[in-house]
Amino acid sequence: MPQEATRGLSFVEPPIFERGAPGRSGVSLSDLDVPAVDLDAEFGALARQRPAALPEVSEPEAVRHFVRLSQQNFSIDTQFYPLGSCTMKFNPKVNEWAARLTGFAALHPLTPPSRAQGALEVIVRLQELLAEIVGMDGVSLQPAAGAQGELTGLMMIRAHHRAQGRSPRKVFIPDSAHGTNPASCALNGFEAVAFPAGERGIVEPETLARALETASDDVAGLMITNPNTLGLYESAMPELTRLVHSRGGLVYGDGANMNAVLGRARPGDVGVDVMQFNLHKTFTTPHGGGGPGSGPVAFKSVLEPYQPGPVVRREGSSFTVDADRPASIGRVRSFLGNFGMMVRAYAYIRELGPEGLKAVSDLAVLNANYLAARLAEHFPIAFPDSRALHEYVFTDKDLEQKTGVKTLDVAKRLLDYGFHSPTVYFPLVVRGAMMIEPTETETKQTIDAFVDAMGKIKREAEEDPELVKGAPHTTRLGRLDEARAARKPRLRWSAEPPTDS
Ligand SMILES: Cc1ncc(COP(=O)(O)O)c(C=O)c1O
Repeated sequence: MPQEATRGLSFVEPPIFERGAPGRSGVSLSDLDVPAVDLDAEFGALARQRPAALPEVSEPEAVRHFVRLSQQNFSIDTQFYPLGSCTMKFNPKVNEWAARLTGFAALHPLTPPSRAQGALEVIVRLQELLAEIVGMDGVSLQPAAGAQGELTGLMMIRAHHRAQGRSPRKVFIPDSAHGTNPASCALNGFEAVAFPAGERGIVEPETLARALETASDDVAGLMITNPNTLGLYESAMPELTRLVHSRGGLVYGDGANMNAVLGRARPGDVGVDVMQFNLHKTFTTPHGGGGPGSGPVAFKSVLEPYQPGPVVRREGSSFTVDADRPASIGRVRSFLGNFGMMVRAYAYIRELGPEGLKAVSDLAVLNANYLAARLAEHFPIAFPDSRALHEYVFTDKDLEQKTGVKTLDVAKRLLDYGFHSPTVYFPLVVRGAMMIEPTETETKQTIDAFVDAMGKIKREAEEDPELVKGAPHTTRLGRLDEARAARKPRLRWSAEPPTDS
């Protein structure tokens, strides 16, 4: 069965502000049956003098606009999305059903705890399940993303050092780390100290020991991703964490890649003190599009006093919200976090159970290794001597040398075959990097079709490089100026044409 993308009816869709007509409306409201409010009297100078310039459209115009936009997106619900390091797995629809149950979805965030016991119970149960999964003592569900979880965990580490009368500044980070790691350090006032991962792609204790040596007693901690961004298991973890603890530092574990080790390895058992989960990766809450996300932090009891407040706790057979937390780093998110994401993650974990979670990781690893074994016929693996887990990094640097076709061209050509591109040019330590993570939710047929497409693109690059360099050819828009879109985004509609085109 061919999997390739093909032509289809697709619409040019202007911004909704350019649709409709003055006075047109998509709703019919009955006449006001209560006294009208005098806005000037109520709001004074803040009262709006003119109606907001909102689009005036009929219901079909509004529905068509947003459905058309949704059809222009590549999504995990339409096709394979092997974006390495992002764990773009399929989100089971039963999670959506659970999150939309009226009792959860319509619950006002200011409902008193005594009348929100069910929701608080979900929160506590999820905290307990997540703590068990990673071998930690407690979990806070407040942070709204993986990066915010990192920030929160580092704030807790800083609070711990302060409570000991210390203020060490250096956080050691291997050079294969995700960019959010050093950013979280900088935001916390720490100094991110990069050190090289070893030749096998993992951190060697000797390298870390040498790096720590340079800091004498200024070691705030180590930030380490496991499995790391090359898909490799950091097998020296017990020794690495021992080295950091012996210098008074704490270990932050970036848990974004937990999908590879669920039910097989627990960061808490190898000396990690605090870590974040990316629920939108590992526990199938929706991913991308700017959120809402969820990046809970799990911690050992030594860091418990500093967790974000207020804290949701079990007290006998009921559930309370404890705001009396004098040592807490404070609130990092409004209310108790993105509750809908918690319901989805809870539903997913309960649906799978311990054996199911183990099967998730086993299949994620099997799929990645099957894909790697087949794709290695076309593109070399960046670290061929190391057996990776859930994702592999390939390199196309030889192809570029031979044909002039760049990694970005290969990525764009994949769209013509109906596949989202892998992560490219990351990690930075590999030239021509293509980081591919199939996840456990893909079938052998899909992986085979993807590998076949990659093989065809390589042949095209050798025989007709311009075809690949001009890709994509079948998408609604061709190659866009991504640098300009990132540097000069037009985020606000204006009736005036842009001046910088
Ligand atoms: C290893 C790693 N750490 C941290 C993050 C940041 O997570 P988020 O995008 O939820 O902020 C990511 C995101 O992909 C990641 O891959």
